[in-house]
Amino acid sequence: MEIILVESEKTGALLAARLIARQIRLKPDAVLGLATGATPVPIYAELVRMHREEGLSFRRVTTFNLDEYVGLPPDHFASYRRYMQEHLFGKVDLLPEKTQVPDGMARDITACCADYEERIRRVGGVDLQLLGLGQDGHIGFNEPSSSLASRTRLKTLTPHTLAANRPGFPPGQEVPRHVLTMGVGTIMEARRCLLVAFGPRKSTAVARMVEGPLTAMVPASILQMHPVATVIVDGEAARDLRMRDYYSEVYRHKPDWQKE
Ligand code: GLP
Repeated sequence: MEIILVESEKTGALLAARLIARQIRLKPDAVLGLATGATPVPIYAELVRMHREEGLSFRRVTTFNLDEYVGLPPDHFASYRRYMQEHLFGKVDLLPEKTQVPDGMARDITACCADYEERIRRVGGVDLQLLGLGQDGHIGFNEPSSSLASRTRLKTLTPHTLAANRPGFPPGQEVPRHVLTMGVGTIMEARRCLLVAFGPRKSTAVARMVEGPLTAMVPASILQMHPVATVIVDGEAARDLRMRDYYSEVYRHKPDWQKE
């Protein structure tokens, strides 16, 4: 795992966007795994800026989002499809048919999840998977105790996640209890994982993910087994990392040829 400590959330978001842009420039038909939540918002804003000002093209890119709420139509205020439309899909030259988000309105959820896996397989797998981190150590919507070999499926949110995601919903509307999410096993097949976590609310989860034991109780800890996992954290999110100084040292002295 490569841990990159950045001085601020802004610097971290710019770096993450640079890594994603680099992936697209290296492979214009790249397959990106995308995340939602508050953390990726400035990353998408920077990608949109690069598209507008630097000619970064998404025309041949395919995207797969990690997750979606069950029962929310794509245009619902809190749906992840709408989030993606607002922050990225509607602002760059991605072809709509190449953007996939699990269908929260699917009648046959099992078939829909199997089809999602099949579509990922058909395009040759995910080149780069962007990830946020839940305060309880979840990735996608793989809550603690999720199988570390799981595939795309229905999950039930914990009370903790229901409360954490409440601000994304209009007052008076319940947060859906059920979600569809890529599995931990699905995420682990991406050729590169890029996880971003900022702020003091993430410090415990970051320490458990990076330095704790590998356990289904912290699904993100599986990234310790990923051959190319990069974790970008600011000082507050890195607060509880015992080897923090070492990670900074490694990054500072990273050979030029290995940078980014
Ligand atoms: C949700 C999403 C995750 C995201 C997490 C953290 O649970 N399903 O993919 O990483 O929230 O969100 P935030 O970035 O808002 O802290």
